[in-house]
Amino acid sequence: MKIGIIGAGNIGGNLTRRLTALGHDVAVANSRGPETLKDLAKETGATPVPATEAAQGADIVVVTVPLRSVPELPSGLLDGAAEDAAVIDTGNYYPQQRDGRIAGIEDDGLTESRWTERHLGHPVIKAFNGTYAQDLLDRARPEGAPDRMALPVAGDDEAAKRKVLALIEELGFDAVDAGGLDDSWRQQPGTPVYGLRGGVKEVEDALAAASPERQPDFRG
Ligand SMILES: NC(=O)c1ccc[n+]([C@@H]2O[C@H](COP(=O)([O-])OP(=O)(O)OC[C@H]3O[C@@H](n4cnc5c(N)ncnc54)[C@H](OP(=O)(O)O)[C@@H]3O)[C@@H](O)[C@H]2O)c1
Repeated sequence: MKIGIIGAGNIGGNLTRRLTALGHDVAVANSRGPETLKDLAKETGATPVPATEAAQGADIVVVTVPLRSVPELPSGLLDGAAEDAAVIDTGNYYPQQRDGRIAGIEDDGLTESRWTERHLGHPVIKAFNGTYAQDLLDRARPEGAPDRMALPVAGDDEAAKRKVLALIEELGFDAVDAGGLDDSWRQQPGTPVYGLRGGVKEVEDALAAASPERQPDFRG
């Protein structure tokens, strides 16, 4: 598949490593330009591109930048993606350490991914947000392995969500459908499933146990 990755940090870098190893055609971008991604390109075979080109023709686009950077992303970022492209948002809101206070999330009550979706102007699927970046490299397991981890996935576009569920399975994790984007508070920072290393049943139980109230550590 043709996959565009916008953000080449902890998560974007490791997704580039895993997805190229699986044989996907990966274009990867950061904020500083393709010449700064030569080492990652050499290591993985991914194509470094400007952010404005990362989504060109892509079946799946991963947006994996800090939330505070989302409004700075160029407009029309996703215009060249395939018509039925799935756009994955891995983002988390860290108002105190990183992102500053975001009124749309705290006052208007938008889920973090709904806020991001509005900025991007394209439906998103929330995935990988509670997964330690290193686990993408170290914790992939074959289907049926007793210690295979499960990851929650939320989104409104059912066809796009199915693509992402399949991609996660291909990466060596079970995927749990966690509902629509308005349900995705169940997997935001501070919830039981966030950072959980568990199987399908544990992830389902953790999603069900979540409280909609934002934890003090995650309020601006
Ligand atoms: N770290 C984790 O284990 C983890 C796990 C799950 C989810 N997350 C979430 O996933 C998101 C990314 O986290 P991360 O740890 O991978 O971040 P990170 O290591 O700080 O990397 C961020 C990347 O985004 C790029 N970027 C920033 N602004 C950009 C722009 N305007 N255009 C294009 N690229 C831009 C940066 O490029 P430059 O370096 O060139 O500025 C960098 O490559 C965050 O919301 C985070 O909370 C992180």
